[in-house]
Amino acid sequence: MSDIGKDVKKAALLLQKGEVIAVPTETVYGLAGNALIPETVIKIFEIKQRPFFDPLIIHLPDKDSLAKYVLEIPVRIRPLMEAFMPGPLTLLLPKRDEIPDIVTAGSPLVAVRIPAHPLMLELLGMVDFPIAAPSANPFGYISPTTAEHVDLQLGEKIPYILDGGPCQIGVESTIIGMEEDKIIIYRKGGIAIEDIESIVGEVIVKAVSSSNPLAPGMLESHYAPRIPLSIIDASEKEITEYDIRTSGILCFQKYAEAFPIEHQRILSPTGNMSEAAKNLFAMMRELDALPLKHIYAELLPESGLGRAINDRLRRASCA
Ligand code: TXA
Ligand code: MG
Repeated sequence: MSDIGKDVKKAALLLQKGEVIAVPTETVYGLAGNALIPETVIKIFEIKQRPFFDPLIIHLPDKDSLAKYVLEIPVRIRPLMEAFMPGPLTLLLPKRDEIPDIVTAGSPLVAVRIPAHPLMLELLGMVDFPIAAPSANPFGYISPTTAEHVDLQLGEKIPYILDGGPCQIGVESTIIGMEEDKIIIYRKGGIAIEDIESIVGEVIVKAVSSSNPLAPGMLESHYAPRIPLSIIDASEKEITEYDIRTSGILCFQKYAEAFPIEHQRILSPTGNMSEAAKNLFAMMRELDALPLKHIYAELLPESGLGRAINDRLRRASCA
């Protein structure tokens, strides 16, 4: 068990000492450390058991502080900054030397984000360095959206969890960058592609494979529960009775008739994508904690936040 609380000053002091702690953001909880101290950054990788080739996002308090750590901000990206920062948007930008290479896994680009969470913004305002933070889950497991989620997996390894309540967005930030004059989406996330396109016009969505995680980095198998998960159409009748007694299902709006009710979770009874995103990881964890042999999940409509949710479900699935 870690110490859990809302003491921002304590969190700032620990970070100043080079410690690694957990912090809330509006997307998911982060495993945070001073991005300018390579030893601290190494500690983050070690606690998370994350390979060193998978780089970290740095978090900043405001747009003005960006210039200290990035060389330039392309003109085409600026309207997105105005619209979505602070918020669940991460930009890949050319880094200044101040950012240690270990943070970016040797890439000349650094991932930067201004989180829209009051406690995290307060913390960022108290320290004079960027906070490096991947999601606060062991590598490959489901991202945490409450302080308790962090405590269950990493509580023994960190001195403090800053508790900012349940995350309001629930899926990670949308990662964007530029290749020549094109805007590229590298990870679908908390800002819908439609909302980005309404500001900058058409963008390119790049699928990233595990064979080339630095292009830029996102490994295929991710966000996975312990129990094997597969995607199904809940209206299909092909699941046998044996399957059903030892299976759970994550549905979008409606219960699936075939399954025992206690093995089911509904992401949003009203079909609201934001509510579904907010519930996604917590409900995956709830099903993962039941004595089940298999978890099934239904895909959402492929639009808005549904795309980020489906991306997470596909990455969580074993087939
Ligand atoms: O919402 C979020 O983005 C959360 C909160 C805590 O801010 N953070 C998060 O971090 O999801 P993480 O480390 O779990 O995922 C960041 C992704 C990784 O897939 C990483 O490979 C990619 O961003 N990334 C980070 N820096 C990069 C870089 N310099 N070039 C390419 N990809 C990068
Ligand atoms: Mg992650």
